[in-house]
Amino acid sequence: MKHFLSLLDIDREIFFRILETAKKFKNDPWEVPQVLTKKTFGLLFEKPSTRTRISFEVGVVQLGGYPVVLNSNELQLSRGESLRDSAHVFSRFLDGLLIRTFAHQNLEQLAKYSSIPIINGLSDLYHPCQALADFLTIAEQNLDFEKTHLVFLGDGNNNVTHSLILASGLAKTKITVLCPKEMSPAKKVLGQARSLQTDIQIIHDIKSLEAKLALQEADILYTDVWVSMGQEKEKENKINLLKPYQVNNQILNQCKASVKIMHCLPAHIGEEITEEVLYSNSSIVFDQAENRLHAQKALLAEIYKH
Ligand code: CP
Ligand code: NVA
Repeated sequence: MKHFLSLLDIDREIFFRILETAKKFKNDPWEVPQVLTKKTFGLLFEKPSTRTRISFEVGVVQLGGYPVVLNSNELQLSRGESLRDSAHVFSRFLDGLLIRTFAHQNLEQLAKYSSIPIINGLSDLYHPCQALADFLTIAEQNLDFEKTHLVFLGDGNNNVTHSLILASGLAKTKITVLCPKEMSPAKKVLGQARSLQTDIQIIHDIKSLEAKLALQEADILYTDVWVSMGQEKEKENKINLLKPYQVNNQILNQCKASVKIMHCLPAHIGEEITEEVLYSNSSIVFDQAENRLHAQKALLAEIYKH
């Protein structure tokens, strides 16, 4: 793998190797191979970030490298310098670059013109680093991926959902997406899921028998914000359509007692999830947040191992 723009950049073998490495790294965050010694790593943000920003900055330091945090508003990119020229310039100063951006094509453009590895720190289409951390978190629950049923409730046409779908394909985990018809996963991603032979079902009617069965069988209930960064204009319409898909006690009561609640965070309490569920004993959301660090360090160790 040179770039990590989506989970399609890795195969099953690399996916499992990253998770195994991450488990080892978690035992002692400083006892890790110094693969980034004498290397500079850029972290470029076009959208806000707490977890991605901190976990990558800390992770780069723990791997022996020097993180260079860049806000796009402070770069000439904000005054119209092209992605092509920026990619050439980044490649002269840096040994790698993480970028959080809007259109996924921005990442593809950067990767096309960069001689250094480019990592997706979230685009409108995917959030692959999040999915690596999520599957590390699922593994920690002693769940066998191939016997696990992951049920996502909310916006199916969303970066986190899309990456969960592809990660489920790699892990051979069954995934159900419970979402409004208007927010079904992107056709492109469903095609990619098919190529990975993903066991996926999409259900729109939350009151249907299929939905009830999925909730009864769920090992993991996952949700994400209803209004993703950059979608503020669609807020009212999205919230109205998504109301029936809120992860609340009524939903939780339909599930097994052992079900775990996941959320990539930040959460909008009272929208996609209620306070009592987010902070319930079933919730593993802060393990997920911590695992961003371990999973991403394992990803960097994989990219820079040679
Ligand atoms: N989950 C996640 O990516 O969080 P941040 O937006 O805080 O980076
Ligand atoms: N879907 C959310 C994820 C935030 C980590 C967004 O894009 O805003």
